[in-house]
Amino acid sequence: KKLAIIGAPITIAQPNMGVDLGPDAIRYAGLHNRLESLGVNFYDYGNLDVPKSGTDQKDPKTNLKNLEQVAEGNEQIANKLNEVKKQGEVPLILGGDHSIAIGSIAGVAPYYKEMGVIWYDAHPDLNTNETSPSGNIHGMSLAASIGLGHKRLTSINGQGPKVKPENIVIIGARSIDEGERKLIREKGIRVYTMHDIETLGMSHVMKEAVEYLRERTDGVHLSLDVDGIDPQFTPGTGTPIEGGPSYRETLYAMKTLHDSGIITSAEVVEVNPLLDDQNKTAVVAADMIAALYGEKYL
Ligand code: ARG
Ligand code: MN
Ligand code: MN
Ligand code: MN
Repeated sequence: KKLAIIGAPITIAQPNMGVDLGPDAIRYAGLHNRLESLGVNFYDYGNLDVPKSGTDQKDPKTNLKNLEQVAEGNEQIANKLNEVKKQGEVPLILGGDHSIAIGSIAGVAPYYKEMGVIWYDAHPDLNTNETSPSGNIHGMSLAASIGLGHKRLTSINGQGPKVKPENIVIIGARSIDEGERKLIREKGIRVYTMHDIETLGMSHVMKEAVEYLRERTDGVHLSLDVDGIDPQFTPGTGTPIEGGPSYRETLYAMKTLHDSGIITSAEVVEVNPLLDDQNKTAVVAADMIAALYGEKYL
């Protein structure tokens, strides 16, 4: 199976400049060479020409920033994924801010009966425009994927929910807003917070997450937000949160996902080389991608 690499440089669903450079930063970190030495068959489609600017003002009626431009970018992502899925390719999307998950999940969801999602992130991104403290759409992408929030976002590539709340596993959460907490409880979304990871250990968490999704889904999209990892390893990101899983734990998680064989598409988001130290964060992102596609020590 051929891996389809797609750059999705949306940056206007969050406030910092530079996330649009994420896809190229990950390529400069040596992504192609890593995949080649693994013998992975891949094609890099380059970057989508998504809208790069909006007013950046919160619309007082909707509490959303840059809604139309973010929605258009996500429609492009969904269309591109539909194209590569039709060709039987396996999508790997390079972000861009985390709003791109709206387009990614909407693009692949029609190809599965029971789509699953692993959301590896410090944040659950389960705000809607009604609960968001910021109006930044990158904090709303998982909510939009379960059909909650502004209609323009929930109707990318077709009306309504793209994934069921019970088919989602969130890993690494440690910054959860009030509305998100309420939603997690209401919908019974499976969340492994940092507290759970400390208590159970990453190996137990990953084993349980994989078993849970293997039983109930026929395809799993991995959404890896680099701020899921502790900022000592991934400082080049716009909303860093202390107290995350280490490089080692995250690499382990990616290796177990590779071995599980359940991952049918993936994305790595929120790499911002302008906030980084020597492209360190993109190098970590490339390490995680290599592990996800089979890199081993021996
Ligand atoms: N919860 C905050 C918000 O809604 C931060 C979200 C950060 N999201 C991200 N994908 N980095 O604004
Ligand atoms: Mn996120
Ligand atoms: Mn995050
Ligand atoms: Mn358990």
